[in-house]
Amino acid sequence: MPDLKTTETTKTIAILGAGTMGNGIAHVCARSGFNVILYDLQQPFLDRGLATIEKNLAREVTKNKLTQQQADEARARITPTLDREALGSCSFAIEAATEKFAIKSEIFRDLDRILPAGAILATNTSSISITKLAAVTKRPEQVIGMHFFNPVPVMQLVEVIRGLATSQATFDAVHALSLQLGKTPVEVNDAAGFISNRVLMPLINEAIYSVMEGVATAEAVDQVFVLGMAHPMGPLTLADFIGLDVCADIMRVLADGLGSPKYNPCPLLVRMVDAGWLGRKSGRGFYTYP
Ligand code: CAA
Repeated sequence: MPDLKTTETTKTIAILGAGTMGNGIAHVCARSGFNVILYDLQQPFLDRGLATIEKNLAREVTKNKLTQQQADEARARITPTLDREALGSCSFAIEAATEKFAIKSEIFRDLDRILPAGAILATNTSSISITKLAAVTKRPEQVIGMHFFNPVPVMQLVEVIRGLATSQATFDAVHALSLQLGKTPVEVNDAAGFISNRVLMPLINEAIYSVMEGVATAEAVDQVFVLGMAHPMGPLTLADFIGLDVCADIMRVLADGLGSPKYNPCPLLVRMVDAGWLGRKSGRGFYTYP
């Protein structure tokens, strides 16, 4: 493992969470020339995340988007760690942990203690209040939302979310970083689900109600959106892709934050999550995966 202390501070980004979003963000940061320290709680999580990055870099080489040398250099810029204290050399952090306030707030408190005073703390939350997360730190003006989309190496958008206290300098830095990562930043204010999930998740939830009530099969619902609305994948395929647990968690955040029962997760969604049918990552959701 390279000596983390020798890594150039201003070019090093801490990424917390090596899951679907975290490994995608690490991939994009490394591909854009940044050093990355990728943190997770357990070695198997890091191993799985790094294996995914290697597979996706290889896919980009096959598609002639990267040379083999560029892919090798990107991979070499990523240093995995199980030690949060190792993030002390980073000037920027992007948290991509589980979508639960208790987990994220514990991480933010720790990042506030470990990272240098000037460092920006960004969260890839898809729905949790930036203002509330910022309030657990002593640097709320340097806390911001940086919401990427799956698959991160492919999707162009970054929703940039200002908390109540986020400074203009922090916003400008994140706007510039998003462009350096080859993404298009879109500014959104801090309300539950921001724009993306406030609109997408009720669509997915309603698609699940349609299946639960026997209006149509999952395949038929998806065909309606692929063939009728030119969506690249139907809402139930997309739900499996995002993770049914993530979809249910986001619906609960919408219900709490926007104060309406219309955002409660569909009972079929809740039952599928209870059964461990989480979509693509567990091998079964609305469809089955080998
Ligand atoms: N890394 C790198 N490249 C990848 C990739 C990955 N993980 N996954 C796919 N690609 C590339 C492929 O190599 C391919 O490249 P070319 O166009 O150069 O051939 C391209 O992406 C398209 O992939 P495929 O041909 O394999 O498959 P596809 O045409 O079916 O596209 C898809 C796959 C891009 C995922 C497409 O189905 C799609 O856009 N789906 C919708 C995705 C979406 O809505 N994402 C947002 C989810 S919501 C979210 O993330 C936020 C939230 O808060 C929940």
